[in-house]
Amino acid sequence: MTENDVRTALAGFDLKNMLDGVHVADGLVQVTLSIRREEAATLEPLRREVEAKLAALPGVKNAAVVFTAHKPAPTPAPAAPAVLPGVKSVIAVASGKGGVGKSTVAVNLAVALAQNGLKTGLMDADVHGPSLPRMLGLAAKPEVQDGKMLPLHAWGLACMSIGFLVEEETAMVWRGPMVMGAINQLLTQVAWGELDVLVIDMPPGTGDTQLTIAQKANLAGAVIVSTPQDIALIDARRGIKMFEQVNVPVLGIVENMSYFACPHCGEHSNIFGHGGAAAQAGRTGAPFLGEIPLQIAIRETSDAGTPITAAAPASEAALAFHAIAAKIIDRLAQPARAAPRILIE
Ligand SMILES: Nc1ncnc2c1ncn2[C@@H]1O[C@H](COP(=O)(O)OP(=O)(O)O)[C@@H](O)[C@H]1O
Ligand SMILES: [Mg+2]
Repeated sequence: MTENDVRTALAGFDLKNMLDGVHVADGLVQVTLSIRREEAATLEPLRREVEAKLAALPGVKNAAVVFTAHKPAPTPAPAAPAVLPGVKSVIAVASGKGGVGKSTVAVNLAVALAQNGLKTGLMDADVHGPSLPRMLGLAAKPEVQDGKMLPLHAWGLACMSIGFLVEEETAMVWRGPMVMGAINQLLTQVAWGELDVLVIDMPPGTGDTQLTIAQKANLAGAVIVSTPQDIALIDARRGIKMFEQVNVPVLGIVENMSYFACPHCGEHSNIFGHGGAAAQAGRTGAPFLGEIPLQIAIRETSDAGTPITAAAPASEAALAFHAIAAKIIDRLAQPARAAPRILIE
């Protein structure tokens, strides 16, 4: 009785490629069949049949057919969580410095986009000064489902803000790594569902947070908000540079607090000068998206949690936001630019 005799006997069985080893010594035969663990029960009758056949061969004192489990396929390294799955276009609203009306523009632009029928989300990435809860009148804590936070809803928008999760003062004192953790959570652990567009209210300036979002969120483009004052324009210029460096197109510049629209007589006064952003846009080649008047009603509606686009959709201010939204919708409809994006991990 040789190994070859055993193999010949085994040829009568349909073992596919299970046959792993044949061992013959002094009339003792051992055959190993390599199978998947979960197949053991199904293949048991075959195992016995083979064993009986081998035991019956002349010169065989004992035959054993044993199963060995396949080594499980190596588990692939866990994939990095998907960033904003289901979101078609991401727009960042940015500014060089705080207080220029970035959040005001982000909120009203988002409402205007939603009023145009786009499924719109609004993400407050200004960890150090979240203003969405107040501007949208949202105070509830988001629910968690399947490990993801569910956005809150207001004015037709799906909304998420660090301000929903922690007290404003708590986030104010966060250090770099905590801020990054929060930003990553906002990018990967919110169940946005299917969105046509997500507007991100960025923190002011051009630091690590802005860079991380610009690199990870696959931005369709950035909207830069500026007041007419020169100093703000210098900051806006810095913002434009940053987005250019990470290959994010600048969709354009919005001039906020462009002129004072008197609530009594309607007269326009150019308190901070006028047209600075338009001139700046001309110099940088970034499109000028429009101007928003300085109006008491804009601040009052923001403070009340009812953005002016929702509270007074036919007002001068709301129409100004709609004109900007229309330009952005146009721009998003254009095919993506050919230039490759730089993605740095
Ligand atoms: N066009 C405007 N007219 C009147 N008030 C405005 C206007 N834009 C912003 N504000 C007010 O200015 C303050 C700062 O605006 P905000 O949007 O929070 O700026 P940022 O997000 O850039 O820090 C808020 O009180 C806001 O209501
Ligand atoms: Mg803000």
